[in-house]
Amino acid sequence: MVRLAYGGDYNPEQWPEEVWHEDVALMREAGVTMVSVGIFSWAMIEPREGEYDFGRLDRIVGLLHDNGIGVDLATPTVVPPAWFYRAHPEALPVSREGVRWEFGSRGAICHNSPAYQEAAARVTRALGERYGKHPAVTMWHVHNEYGVPVLECYCETSAAAFRRWLRERYTTLDALNAAWGTAFWGQTYHDWEEIAPPRLTPTVCNPAQRLDYRRFAGDSALANFRRERDILHELSPGVPVTTNFMVSPTQCDTIDYWAWAREVDIVTNDHYLVAEEDRNHVNLSMAADLTRSVAGGAPWLLLEHSTSGVNWQPRGIAKRPGEMARNSLAHVARGSEGAMFFQWRASRAGAEKFHSAMVPHAGTDSRVWREVVELGAHLGALEEIRGTRTVADVAVAWDWQSWWAQKLEWRPSEDLDTRERAEAWYAALFDRHLTADFVHPGTDPARLAEYPLLVVPALYLTTKAAGENLRAYVEGGGTLVVSYFSGIVDEHDAVHPGPHPGALRDVLGLTVEEFQPLRKDQKVTVGAAGRPALEGDVWAETVVARGAETVWSYTDGPAAGGPAVTRHRLGRGTAWYVSTRLGRDGLDAVLAEACADAGLAPRDELPHDVEVVRRSGEHGTYLFALNHTGADAKVPLEGAGTELLGGERVAGHLAVPAGGVRVVRLDG
Ligand code: GAL
Repeated sequence: MVRLAYGGDYNPEQWPEEVWHEDVALMREAGVTMVSVGIFSWAMIEPREGEYDFGRLDRIVGLLHDNGIGVDLATPTVVPPAWFYRAHPEALPVSREGVRWEFGSRGAICHNSPAYQEAAARVTRALGERYGKHPAVTMWHVHNEYGVPVLECYCETSAAAFRRWLRERYTTLDALNAAWGTAFWGQTYHDWEEIAPPRLTPTVCNPAQRLDYRRFAGDSALANFRRERDILHELSPGVPVTTNFMVSPTQCDTIDYWAWAREVDIVTNDHYLVAEEDRNHVNLSMAADLTRSVAGGAPWLLLEHSTSGVNWQPRGIAKRPGEMARNSLAHVARGSEGAMFFQWRASRAGAEKFHSAMVPHAGTDSRVWREVVELGAHLGALEEIRGTRTVADVAVAWDWQSWWAQKLEWRPSEDLDTRERAEAWYAALFDRHLTADFVHPGTDPARLAEYPLLVVPALYLTTKAAGENLRAYVEGGGTLVVSYFSGIVDEHDAVHPGPHPGALRDVLGLTVEEFQPLRKDQKVTVGAAGRPALEGDVWAETVVARGAETVWSYTDGPAAGGPAVTRHRLGRGTAWYVSTRLGRDGLDAVLAEACADAGLAPRDELPHDVEVVRRSGEHGTYLFALNHTGADAKVPLEGAGTELLGGERVAGHLAVPAGGVRVVRLDG
């Protein structure tokens, strides 16, 4: 990227050409540097099969180029035209219930359909040939948000592709039968042709089969991404190819972004603030940290978010003054090389006409537009941060596949919730002003060793190899904090042999004799001499310490008298285990001690809900301070620096007004 990216999805095909000229003039006024074009334009550029009409797209790309605005050009393969479905109704996806989704919306795609694959490759090639070397094209945007709204298709074509995928993975039926545990409920397969997708079954379907189907569906979509990417690499050498992710446990649960991130030239992400959520800025930061982490710490780009209300949420709550800038700059602080929106100009028609935009229905005499112009200027003033990397203090383990597995039916409590625990632990770290990287549990212990503290909030599925990594991390001196219902099953959703938590018993120095799920609304208390009593709910366990010391014990409830929170000294490090669902204060109490073990000093001098994050590079370190409160705040500064949004010199401390953002280039 040549500049920090600022702009949004631009859909000029929805407007008469005179509006385009007004658009580019306004883009210049707002400091827009790049727009995403053509995401939904297949029907415009290929009105009939094999007949291309690039007239309008040529004029749009040319106009943007003449005005110095870069083009993130999309392949429109998320919405094949109506003519395509008329000729190939079999390319429409089928739900688990056996219902075929129809045309009339978007994303109705069976990723295993050969007709779709061929048509998508053809239109991608046509675009690559025409615009591959066009100087306006700064990035390629393949498809749109793979994984939402539909990833898994259960049609016959998909069934056949699933069987091929299984043969490659397992080679023999014996291996498949063993992996899926088909001896249970008499499901043994004697012929590959007997195997079908995990369609609706009278009662719970084989969980290993379901888990593999999710993996297979992701691989099918990824193969389609790769096909388009490779065509673009061939025809448009040197131009980065991306596809917009939805890396947020709140917004997309179907894609394993650890795997996908390896396939794109730059990670880009869409994030929609959950407006109604209390302290929604915390989950925004979590999504941004997770995005940076799948990108391996490299700069990434926020490709969509909203200027204000989001129409697909239950209530399209408008952002408060200053909130859009705070949201945007929080992403930038956590590694984004700019801030882009859905969308440039609010649509008059269609399903998203009540979605906010950079140019709202109210036009330019509006708060949103004034803030859009101001944000463009702010990003202009931050140019020099490009290429720097966010500095993390601690790590959190996250694995999509474990989340998928945990969400399947008939777990020991329906209140177990991977996402909830990940968010709760992340929030506890955020409140201690610790910036977190996420790590895949398969990460090499040598890399894990970069973090003094590693939190495992919910890792139901933990492979043997991951368990060994975590053990090596602790033995090497790391401080590990593991929350309950982790380390339970292997990659096939089979319980590790022996007592729970099979993959983590050794590192934690304990076994779990019995799960003790709590009744709805039941609470338990855990106590320790000289420490605050804490409250838990949802879950308890009969824990048997086998090397670990008991720090907090259950004082009531089904596990009364037994260990509740334990600490195991192993090698040069320490492993904590938390066997109940602690609330905010409880998590903080455990973290306070774990941080002390890890040598992380408290940051009590930083005000609550004032987010302080650093980006650092060869030419300097930049401190971002975002005040999410309604009161002016002071952030202590070691040394002095220059505030980039206002240009003033600051020393000793930084004043951050209520709701405001400050970015300081630190001296030295
Ligand atoms: C995104 C999508 C956009 C638009 C936006 C609205 O998920 O990529 O096309 O629909 O949501 O919030």
